[in-house]
Amino acid sequence: MRFHSRSPDATQSAAGLLAASLPREGLLLVLSGPLGAGKTLFAKGLAQGLGVAPEAVTSPTFAICAEYDLRDGRRLAHVDGYRLQSTAELENAGFLDLLTAGTIVLVEWGERFRDALPADRLEIKISRPGEGPTRRYLEAVACGPVASQVLTQWQAQLVSKVGRQLDLEMLEETSQSRWD
Ligand SMILES: Nc1ncnc2c1ncn2[C@@H]1O[C@H](COP(=O)(O)OP(=O)(O)O)[C@@H](O)[C@H]1O
Ligand SMILES: [Mg+2]
Repeated sequence: MRFHSRSPDATQSAAGLLAASLPREGLLLVLSGPLGAGKTLFAKGLAQGLGVAPEAVTSPTFAICAEYDLRDGRRLAHVDGYRLQSTAELENAGFLDLLTAGTIVLVEWGERFRDALPADRLEIKISRPGEGPTRRYLEAVACGPVASQVLTQWQAQLVSKVGRQLDLEMLEETSQSRWD
């Protein structure tokens, strides 16, 4: 699935809608894209959608990981891999302990550590097309059955709100988006 976000708000709202589609058992979300793409903003929108106060969410670059207890008993773990050079460093930071049932794990720069990641995950790539400071392209690819179901639901949520509450535009899929 691909869409075009026209503003920081649109990215944050789209992430908030993903929150509603996440299952009880949790899921791994991998965010990639250059510095300033909007990965942390996406994390903020997701956290907000999960009931965490948005001002509580900052970039965990220095802490590497920030964890939030959700009201429904699940947890959100927000990991920033920017300063990590290798899978070993990620694992030393306690990453594997986060991957337990009931935890939603969002990893910025997670594409650097694909060999350490569970097979069932949702990958979201954000890019800046250079067509103005507030334009972003987001592409989501589901790897695995749980992620596929989540992606289908998220897409339906987005499609139903585009134009009214959401300032974004759904785009044609590329062949790369069809991994499942
Ligand atoms: N459409 C957009 N989606 C997301 N962020 C945007 C958008 N337009 C502008 N921005 C700005 O880009 C910056 C993204 O920062 P951040 O989320 O910290 O990036 P990253 O974590 O990828 O380095 C924010 O200042 C945000 O306001
Ligand atoms: Mg960031």
